[in-house]
Amino acid sequence: MNNIEVNGKNFEILIENDSINKRTRLIGIQLNVDYENRCPIFIGVLNGSFLFMADLIKEVDIACEVGFIRVASYQGTETTGTVKETFGLPDNLHDRDVILVEDIVDTGHTLHYILEKVKAQKPASIAVCSLLFKPAALQKPIEELKYVGFEIPNEFVVGYGLDYDGLGRNLSDIYRAV
Ligand code: IMP
Repeated sequence: MNNIEVNGKNFEILIENDSINKRTRLIGIQLNVDYENRCPIFIGVLNGSFLFMADLIKEVDIACEVGFIRVASYQGTETTGTVKETFGLPDNLHDRDVILVEDIVDTGHTLHYILEKVKAQKPASIAVCSLLFKPAALQKPIEELKYVGFEIPNEFVVGYGLDYDGLGRNLSDIYRAV
């Protein structure tokens, strides 16, 4: 389907599931090389990253651990700029290689908040892996953003884990608002 409606709002196709899978496979290969013999811990930022995390981790064949953090900062289509932690980070990140897994980096507020929390535990290294990145929306540079699936325009998107007012996370493709 090229055009869909989610909660009364119209969206058109932006990235098909097949392209997401191909890109995810390539990122997985890169991670296998970069983290060979290091046993990183992947931490997914819920809710949006759950599908990407599931598909990504299946492409990773080195030893690794997986955890999640949940934060809330979004209402409707506008970011509020304030981030609330609703359940916390694993507390054993000291000396670990941490890879934060995001669905999308938009303003970057969420990541800045989480990165501070991770750094406070003095990990060995931190990298961010995000399926989507809106460079035009970013408010502060994020030097840890090392793995990006797709750079997209500054438009609201839904599907493959991303929601519009709670709906649309189950769509297998990614759509943009029209
Ligand atoms: P940031 O803090 O502005 O970078 O926003 C990060 C979070 O906002 C993401 O993890 C998403 O959950 C949500 N978000 C940002 N842009 C979009 C979008 O276009 N569609 C759906 N959710 C979004």
